[in-house]
Amino acid sequence: MKFKNLYTFLNKDLDVIEQELQNVVQSDYEMLSEAGLDMLQAGGKRIRPVFVLLSGMFGDYDIHKIKNVAVALEIIHMATLVHDDVIDDAELRRGRPTVKARWDNRIAMYTGDYLFAKSLELMTELKDPLAHKILSKTIVDVVIGEIEQLKDKYRFEQSLKDYLTRIKRKTAILIATSCQLGAISAGTEPELHKKLYRFGYYVGMSFQIIDDILDFTSSEKELGKPVGSDLLQGNITLPVLIAMQDSSLRNQIIKIGPSTEPADIQPLIRDIKASGAIEKSYEVSNRYLEKAFALLDEMPSNKARSTMHSIAKYIGKRKI
Ligand code: IPE
Ligand code: IPE
Ligand code: MG
Ligand code: MG
Repeated sequence: MKFKNLYTFLNKDLDVIEQELQNVVQSDYEMLSEAGLDMLQAGGKRIRPVFVLLSGMFGDYDIHKIKNVAVALEIIHMATLVHDDVIDDAELRRGRPTVKARWDNRIAMYTGDYLFAKSLELMTELKDPLAHKILSKTIVDVVIGEIEQLKDKYRFEQSLKDYLTRIKRKTAILIATSCQLGAISAGTEPELHKKLYRFGYYVGMSFQIIDDILDFTSSEKELGKPVGSDLLQGNITLPVLIAMQDSSLRNQIIKIGPSTEPADIQPLIRDIKASGAIEKSYEVSNRYLEKAFALLDEMPSNKARSTMHSIAKYIGKRKI
């Protein structure tokens, strides 16, 4: 089962979003257009726009009204990815050279800024000041989350709470905001859009935990980048934090530093995978998903709700 098969009834509207995304990344400046279009063509799951549209279906849904919000959220996501690849010094994204690899860090900085600015332009369609307040706070959080990721590299004494706060900021809040702004733009009551925000937050936490698991368990082909990149970069994720509870693994992990080579950590990656840390990470992800399901049960029953349920379930087991 593919992710996209869970919401085929959205296909026509997602085509509209795709077209808009292409229009938005175009610029008179060729390099910016090229970077944006290349990222779009490389794929990506577009889960943030999907959540915007589904949340909008709890209210007065009109694709022509909601499309700008959906596109804005995906554009913000793209901007954070371009910047994230600078922070993580990543060569590949979606199987293609990153903006920072193809050009350089400075160009990546401005490409990200350009995309952020474009998203603001799109959001002018939304007249409710609350939407802008939520969005600005979200962007601030994502930036803080990314700075924390940079600061926390190779900081082996960090706690589980540090990790959870970081992934909340860098990932979960953007997904939560996608849900809430979709609902606000469709005129839902505050009680419902706040609930959708919390649903998105729980799903987003699980989403990043799974992303961190896949960095160990997936293949280079599926990831579109080398396996074990997080550990090599000193990015301490949930499987690593759990593995460090074992003193022998901990002693090996704390030796990792900026000069560690990919080949040096291959045996360690195998040991972490064999330690039960992956299974325990899935348990943490499942606890968040259970909370997401419980919130859905409190919402009006409709096609959007059942689709969100299937997507959340899929996220917990996803392979890409
Ligand atoms: C990647 O996000 C970064 C994380 C927040 C884990 P996605 O997994 O949604 O990336 P694409 O858009 O599908 O490539
Ligand atoms: C998510 O973290 C990045 C952002 C939220 C911007 P990762 O660093 O894990 O994302 P990938 O694995 O590079 O896609
Ligand atoms: Mg990264
Ligand atoms: Mg990752």
